[in-house]
Amino acid sequence: MTQICYSKSQRYTDLDTIYEQCSGPGGLRLSDFLAQKMGLRPGSRLLDVGCNRGIQTCFLAKEYGIDIIAIDPWSDRMQGDLMVEHLRSNAESWGVSNRVLGQKIGVPHTNFASHSFDFVHSTTALEMVRGLNGEEGYLDCLREIHRVLRPGGIFGLGEPMHLDSPLPEDLEPYVSHGDFPWKECFRDIKSTTADVERAGFIILESGYAPDAWSWWMEFAKHDPFCKKEPDGDPKTLEVDNGRWTSFGYVIAQKIE
Ligand SMILES: C[S@@+](CC[C@H](N)C(=O)[O-])C[C@H]1O[C@@H](n2cnc3c(N)ncnc32)[C@H](O)[C@@H]1O
Repeated sequence: MTQICYSKSQRYTDLDTIYEQCSGPGGLRLSDFLAQKMGLRPGSRLLDVGCNRGIQTCFLAKEYGIDIIAIDPWSDRMQGDLMVEHLRSNAESWGVSNRVLGQKIGVPHTNFASHSFDFVHSTTALEMVRGLNGEEGYLDCLREIHRVLRPGGIFGLGEPMHLDSPLPEDLEPYVSHGDFPWKECFRDIKSTTADVERAGFIILESGYAPDAWSWWMEFAKHDPFCKKEPDGDPKTLEVDNGRWTSFGYVIAQKIE
């Protein structure tokens, strides 16, 4: 198992800014974690699925020297601007415009040619598709990711998940409401890994991230929506207190 040292992300210390430019636990440390697990190599071509405002995309392009196409179909909830427009302006300020290209599309309908990418990175995005379109919708996304990877290519998935334990009764109401109820979106690592296998991948490594809970705590403290709505996700996490909510990852390879 790879030893993770966060060597590239540890110098980005302004967590308020980082969490303003992404939308989920882990921020740049999550992408650093996945990048090392995936073995990103300079000069490779990566697809970032669900890039949001693109700060992780820019970080990967700059610190790992890779070329990235980043996709996101939505607009932001604050000003209503396209996520890929935020990505473009972030890429300018990070000095990686020559390495990053955004497209307003989503999985499973990408229209990229098969075998286009060496790597696919996706964090805190596909579980939302599961919430909207169910398990088959989630599997369709994984199959599309498999299709666009070249043989030998690597997929790094980072996703909010729940631990392999029953949902505590007192937590149930907190994870059952809203547009994306966590109860509908989150699965445990075993079931997620099985889905990735069903899409045709072989699994290189999977597990719960060792820093999962501290990423969630960071998110509760620094995410702009959490700051505005302390009775939302921060309250859920407070009630949970580490009993159910976690964050998992799957590193998988396309063989043919
Ligand atoms: C919660 S954000 C996470 C962003 C970022 N990767 C992170 O880890 O902070 C999820 C993003 O997935 C995007 N998304 C939703 N449906 C998608 C789809 N079908 N394909 C790709 N991205 C999608 C949303 O627009 C949103 O920006």
